[in-house]
Amino acid sequence: MPEVSRRTILIVGGVGGLAALVGGTGLLWGSTEPSLPGGTGSLGGLDDLLQPEVLRSDAGLLRVRLSSAKAAVRIGGREATVLAYNGSLPGPTLVLRPGDRLEVALENGLDAATNLHVHGLHVTPRGNGDNVLLAIDPGDTFDYAYDLPADHPPGVYWYHPHHHGNVAEQVSAGLYGTIIVEDPEPIPVTRERVLIISDLTLDAAGRVAPASDEDQMFGREGELVLVNGQLAPTLSARPGERERWRVVNACVSRYLSLRLDGQNLQLLGMDSGRDAEPESVEEVRLAPGNRADLLVDAASGTSILRTSPVDRGSMQGMMGGSAATGADLAVFEVAGGPVDAPPPVPRQSAPRDLRDEEVTGRREITLAMGMGGMMGPGGMTFTIDGRKFNRERVDTQVELGAVEEWTLVNASPMDHPFHLHVWPMQVVEFPGASIDRPVWRDVVNLPARSRVRVRIAFEDFRGPSVYHCHILDHEDLGMMGIIDTE
Ligand code: C2O
Ligand code: CU
Ligand code: CU
Repeated sequence: MPEVSRRTILIVGGVGGLAALVGGTGLLWGSTEPSLPGGTGSLGGLDDLLQPEVLRSDAGLLRVRLSSAKAAVRIGGREATVLAYNGSLPGPTLVLRPGDRLEVALENGLDAATNLHVHGLHVTPRGNGDNVLLAIDPGDTFDYAYDLPADHPPGVYWYHPHHHGNVAEQVSAGLYGTIIVEDPEPIPVTRERVLIISDLTLDAAGRVAPASDEDQMFGREGELVLVNGQLAPTLSARPGERERWRVVNACVSRYLSLRLDGQNLQLLGMDSGRDAEPESVEEVRLAPGNRADLLVDAASGTSILRTSPVDRGSMQGMMGGSAATGADLAVFEVAGGPVDAPPPVPRQSAPRDLRDEEVTGRREITLAMGMGGMMGPGGMTFTIDGRKFNRERVDTQVELGAVEEWTLVNASPMDHPFHLHVWPMQVVEFPGASIDRPVWRDVVNLPARSRVRVRIAFEDFRGPSVYHCHILDHEDLGMMGIIDTE
């Protein structure tokens, strides 16, 4: 990319530039000010990327108070009213080590029920653990406790509310934060950053716009795509520096396909665990809920962190559709005198491969959409194995210690990102891909009308937990089931 100033990039845009940033309307919310006021910054896109507050465990314990409530924040230079943990968007970053205990006092300052989910952590789903079947009522406080096993995989995880029926609304309004489980052996980098990517739509008064029935059926996508709650922030580095970016897709429904042209990106791992060696990548695709652990070796110049449009299918004949949009997310400015690169990344131990292990059970799980009476908005139903979520019903019973192979069937014309709590999944068969090494995920995209095969080792924990579509509107509409392990 030729060198241009970041202002030029933001205003003129490359592919999916300004129009994408402001949702194609040419205006930020609040239609009084056009977004091109002769080049001055109503885009607000020239701020440095801020890091959420970091809370780190000490001597094996991290004790945190998370208060979820309405908060006034600034987004793109404007006042906005969102929902936030501890008044900040995103919530604090929680940094843990394998074997640690995390205690969270969750205060519900909202006007609806909520709860807390620690997405991807391998911890008990029972009692006051990662129990998403709990409802914490407005005004109540609940004490969660999570004990990470000593061999918990390092990686990027996150937390968000999970009260069935309110999840999409609460997450899209701003309730999310990052959890990091540190590596046993540190990876040498110049600096680490968290990039938590979310999207929302604000109305003229700066309030989060409600989603229409149609938005919910397709899965709402916000007009503004934010990084750490900021619109198009700037990240600065010097040539030769190596950065580690922990990227979370906290969008309710938006798929991300990230590029940082002009820079050298390497993937350390996705979701939980680490690959044996970093892999050079040009594009990183994150379904809602997925995370990427990236290394960026900074090369001189200005690059744009950009998400390209992702086609995630359609509702077939329904109104609305799949007009995917791209967006410019951030500016990466590398300038100044070069520095010596940090030492090479040490090799990690090879991940477990369930293809070498005996499968003790097989099952098929089918996600479908249909016109089934008037059950969902617009009469569309979202089901797993033909049924909507029912918190009183166990859909899948598994024995502790089982190694199962699940065939995940998507019978619908839209993609659905399939997510299982507590136990990560090893993808062993994916349409159009030959898989030559262990691929572990806790969210696996199921392309429209396709079958994907995963293996899961049900170890360590008993009790009811869930699997669901991580287009959180679909989860709220019933695309979720209960799994019980005993
Ligand atoms: Cu990220 Cu069941 O959730
Ligand atoms: Cu989860
Ligand atoms: Cu879905």
